[in-house]
Amino acid sequence: MSFSKLLDLLTGREAQRTAIDWDAKYGTDTRSTVELHGLTISHDSRRFGERYQASDPSALSDALAFVGLDPRSYRFVDLGCGKGRMLIVAAELGFKSCIGVEFADELAQTAKANAAAAGFDTISVVHGDAGAYAFQDEPFVLYLFNPFSHQIMQRVRDNLLKLRRAEYYVIYKNPRERRIFDEMQTLRYLGTPPAHKGVWGVHVWGPRGE
Ligand SMILES: C[S@@+](CC[C@H](N)C(=O)[O-])C[C@H]1O[C@@H](n2cnc3c(N)ncnc32)[C@H](O)[C@@H]1O
Repeated sequence: MSFSKLLDLLTGREAQRTAIDWDAKYGTDTRSTVELHGLTISHDSRRFGERYQASDPSALSDALAFVGLDPRSYRFVDLGCGKGRMLIVAAELGFKSCIGVEFADELAQTAKANAAAAGFDTISVVHGDAGAYAFQDEPFVLYLFNPFSHQIMQRVRDNLLKLRRAEYYVIYKNPRERRIFDEMQTLRYLGTPPAHKGVWGVHVWGPRGE
């Protein structure tokens, strides 16, 4: 690896360039980080939330390739979708529908505008608390990028356990609350895509029956 490439990786310049190219393709702005303290959030769960930071689009495509999952028969759910970048990535990959849940007014509005700019009619954005999201009994992929701490993740777990069938995968980037999924009887840890290893990387769980 050349020195300039190494410098790009260490300083994050490479990731920034990739994000600029990705936004330019869709006429969106998803890359800039946003702290929650300046945003309008009328939910008690505010204090458990993490700031907005966008995922690398390859997190999803690499995770799907890793488990060999065909997205066309799955719904995609991003809890804490922020500006909606992963909803657009999921729609582009061919998920049959893509739902994002975001509790900050400004970010939910931006996610809606970004989805409209990208032109995918399979995307919908729910402005609300992820802990209150009721999953549907149908195959889906749950995507999480370190959105909130265990108080909310436990509610998400409880909502998952209400389903009659466990036909879902969990893709979790920077999984600070991974114990919750490791301990679920309905899930089995599948591992991490090769390009996204490490504790801050992308980790995947699938149905235990598979
Ligand atoms: C690290 S960002 C991830 C953004 C997006 N999922 C992605 O990967 O590009 C976490 C997001 O979760 C949102 N969030 C935190 N707690 C939430 C909650 N209880 N309900 C809904 N959204 C929440 C934050 O506002 C922020 O936009």
